[in-house]
Amino acid sequence: MAYPYQILTEEQYHEAWNKSVANPEAFWGEVASSFQWRKPWDKVLEWNFEEPNVKWFIGGKLNITENCLDRHLAVNADTPAIIWEPNNPDEQDRVITYKELHHKVMQFANVLKNNGVKKGDRVCIYMGMVPELAIALLACARIGAIHSVIFGGFSAQSISDRLQDANAEYIVTCDGAFRGNKEIPLKAVIDDALVQCRFVKKVIVLQRTDTPVSMIKHRDVWWQDEIDKVEEMGNPDCPAEEMDAEDPLFILYTSGSTGKPKGVVHTCGGYMVYATYTFVNVFQYQPGDIHFCTADVGWITGHSYIVYGPLSAGATTLMFEGIPTWPDAGRFWDVVDKYKVNILYTAPTAIRSLMAYGLKPIEGHDLCSLKVLGSVGEPINEEAWHWFSEHIGKNNCPVVDTWWQTENGGILISNLAGVTPSKPSYATLPLPGIQPVLVDEQGKEIIGNNVSGNLCIKHPWPSIIRTTYGDHERCRTNYFATYPGMYFTGDGCYRDEKGNYRITGRVDDVLNVSGHRIGTAEVENAINMHEGVVESAVVGYPHDIKGQGIYAFVICTNTHGDDNLMRQDIMQTVNRIIGAIARPDKIQFVSALPKTRSGKIIRRILRKIAEGEMSNLGDITTLLDPNVVDDIKKGRI
Ligand code: WTA
Repeated sequence: MAYPYQILTEEQYHEAWNKSVANPEAFWGEVASSFQWRKPWDKVLEWNFEEPNVKWFIGGKLNITENCLDRHLAVNADTPAIIWEPNNPDEQDRVITYKELHHKVMQFANVLKNNGVKKGDRVCIYMGMVPELAIALLACARIGAIHSVIFGGFSAQSISDRLQDANAEYIVTCDGAFRGNKEIPLKAVIDDALVQCRFVKKVIVLQRTDTPVSMIKHRDVWWQDEIDKVEEMGNPDCPAEEMDAEDPLFILYTSGSTGKPKGVVHTCGGYMVYATYTFVNVFQYQPGDIHFCTADVGWITGHSYIVYGPLSAGATTLMFEGIPTWPDAGRFWDVVDKYKVNILYTAPTAIRSLMAYGLKPIEGHDLCSLKVLGSVGEPINEEAWHWFSEHIGKNNCPVVDTWWQTENGGILISNLAGVTPSKPSYATLPLPGIQPVLVDEQGKEIIGNNVSGNLCIKHPWPSIIRTTYGDHERCRTNYFATYPGMYFTGDGCYRDEKGNYRITGRVDDVLNVSGHRIGTAEVENAINMHEGVVESAVVGYPHDIKGQGIYAFVICTNTHGDDNLMRQDIMQTVNRIIGAIARPDKIQFVSALPKTRSGKIIRRILRKIAEGEMSNLGDITTLLDPNVVDDIKKGRI
C-alpha cells in the first residue's frame, strides 16, 4: 500500500519535480491535504528571501501530535510506534504501540501543564536515548510548548548558553544516560548549568540509571511522581492545543561560522509536511517496515527521522540507546537481526569505524530483512559507500545518500531508494520542491553540467528555517545575504554530466567532525578561555574515521612549561566549555600565526599544513612575517 504522495517510479519523480517547480503551491497544497488539519489553510505560500519572511499553509490550524498519534488510532492502534533497544543487550527491550504512545504523551503533556508549562514556553530537553525522550518532545508539541533538545554530549556551559538564549524556564532530563560502558551524569551536568540560570522554574527528572542525584526543593521533581499525580487526578486525556501552521514547533541549536550557536526555528505545518513527505519517499517506507535511524534525537536527523517523520507516517521507528561498538562491533547487526530491520539510516563515520573491525563482527548475523540503507551527516567516501552496500546490503539494497541540514528540516538532495539511481559519493538529485543552484564567489549562477560552485537553493520548501531564535537579523545575514535572493547552504558542490549533485564539504569555517557540526570560532573561543593561551587558530584536517579532525594551533604565554600537561589542560577546557565532541585531536604550540599586515589569520595556510601539504602553500608574500610559516611547518604533529 502506497501513501497518496508516494513516488513509485523514476518517471513519477521527474513529473513530481517538474510540477513542484512549475507550480509549488499546487504541488505542496496537494501533499499537505493528506494530513490532518483542524482548519485548512487560506493560502499555501507567501515568501521573500530579503527579510526573509517565509510562511507556508497560511491560516491552517493543526496539531502535529494529532498527525503523529491520534489519526493512527482508528486502524493502527496496536501497531508498534516505537521499538526501544537498551544500551545493555541483557536488559529488557520495549515495544510501545500507537495506542500506548498516545496515552503516554497525553499523560506527560498533563505533567507539563501541572508544572506550569504553557503554549509558547520553551522547554529544554537533555536526555539519553530512551522512549521518554520522544514522549517529552511530543508532549511539548501536544500543548504547544516549544522544545529545544540539547545533545547529551554538550557541557554545562553550552547548556547554560542555550537556556539563556531561548529563555527556557523548564527542563526535562534524566538522572543519567548509558552509552556503551559509560554512565553520563546528565542531572549533575544540568545542576552545573543552572548555577548560571536562576530563571529556570522546574526540572523534571526521569530515573534511568539510578545515578545518585541531588534534588533542589521546589525546583526539581521526579518524572514518575508527576505521572502518578496525573493518574490520581483520574483524567488522563489531554486534548491537543490548536496550533497555527506557522507557530514554532521547536528550536534546535547548531553551529555556524561565528562563535555562538544559533537557535534554528522550525514551525508546525511546513515541518510536518516536509519531514513526512521525505521520510516516505526517500526511504520508500511501506507500512509494516521497521525503520532504524541510528542518530541521536539531540540532532535534527533524530527529530525528523526518528520522531516526527516516521510517527506522522504511522511507521515503526526503532530507537537505540547504545553505541555501535559496545559490547562489540557487531551491535548494529544484532539489532538489525533481532528486530528484522528493513531500513537502516546511519552516518559515514559509524560505517568507517565499523569497517575498521573487518568483516568478522558481521558474521553470524542475518541481515536479509534489510531493504534500504541510508547515509547522512557528511560526505560518504566511495570506499565506505561500497563497503556498506556490499557487506551490509549484500548488493541487494539501494543506498540513499541524503544531503540536508538542521536549517532544512528534512532531506533536500538524495536518490529515492530503488526509484531513482544511486551514484557512490553523490547525493544525486533534488527532492521535489527543491531547486539547487551553484554560484561562483560573486554570486553568479553557474549554468551547465560538470561544474563546481557554492550550493544555494532558489525557492523555499515547506520546512526551511524561519528564523534564528531571538535574532532574525542573524538568520538573514547567515543564510540569505551572501547571495541575494537565495538560501546559502555553506556547502561546496559539484554537478556531474547528468545533473547529479556531489557535496564536497563546507566552504565556511564550520567543521564536520564525526557528522557533528562544530564552528572553528567556537573551539577557538573555548581554547582562548584557558589562562595560559594568548591566541589560537583552529582548522579541520582529513581524519580516516571522523571525516574531519580538529587541529589547533595555539600560542601560549609560558613557552617553557610541559607541553603535554598544557595540551591536556586545553582539552579539558574545551570539554568544559563546549563538550567532548569539540575536543581538538591535535594541538600544536606555535610562537606566531600567519597573519596579513592587517592582522587577519590566513587559515588557508594553516589548513594546508594541517593536511600535511607542505609545499604548495600559495602566495605567502602578503604575510606580515613569512618566516612564521617555516616554523609552523617544522613543528607539525
Ligand atoms: C553535511 C545534518 C555530504 C553538510 C542532517 C551540511 C553532508 C552539514 C551530507 C549539515 C551528505 C549532511 N553528504 N555532506 N549526505 N549530509 N552533510 O546541520 O556539510 O548537522 O551542511 O545536518 O552536514 O549538518 P547538520
